[in-house]
Amino acid sequence: MKVSGSILSSKITAKEAIEIYNKTNIDYIHLDIMDGKFVENKTWTMSDINKFSKIATKSFDVHLMVNNPDKYIDELSMMNTSYITFHYEAVKKPLDVINHIKNNGIRCGIAINPDTKVSDIFPLLKEVDLVLIMSVVPGSSGQSFMESVLYKLDVLRKEINEKKLNTLISIDGGINDETFIKVKDNIDIVVSASYLLEGNTKEKIDNFKNN
Ligand code: DX5
Ligand code: ZN
Repeated sequence: MKVSGSILSSKITAKEAIEIYNKTNIDYIHLDIMDGKFVENKTWTMSDINKFSKIATKSFDVHLMVNNPDKYIDELSMMNTSYITFHYEAVKKPLDVINHIKNNGIRCGIAINPDTKVSDIFPLLKEVDLVLIMSVVPGSSGQSFMESVLYKLDVLRKEINEKKLNTLISIDGGINDETFIKVKDNIDIVVSASYLLEGNTKEKIDNFKNN
């Protein structure tokens, strides 16, 4: 299990969150980029993100909650970025965005909202490295895990196995020690903000990683 720590918190700054994660065994910094259009909230500018990239000792797992992902991809590709994930609902031609990311030498992910059918992205599965299942409505940290998305993990795992693909499955939103148990057998990367950042971060990350 890989762990991706989101730095989106209402209690501490992004910089403080990065400094906490730097001292742990976390695999990635999950960077939630919001444009105020695809979701209501807005997060950081590219200049902020450039500063984050200078202090972070782990690579970025970028989650673009934006209407125009192409605008961000080139600059993010020049940083220490492992994955760039965009939302299926945000774009008309997902294959073009996938190719943009892959042509920059970055692994590509596709995210789906809680109300998007998982079968909608089946035709794209062989093109992407990662599927990000949203277990909250994207827009903010600190929301409760939506049990109603759990079945998607089973369906997706089955499809990936049947097609003999290497596509990874990640989940994002409302993950804590209790909800983690419900998802762990079907995922490869777990994303969390509030739970990891509210204390004992190092131990929580190690627990996730050992599962
Ligand atoms: C939600 C973001 C998540 C969020 C997770 O829109 O994509 O990454 O930061 O926060 P928690 O773990 O608090 O639900
Ligand atoms: Zn996210």
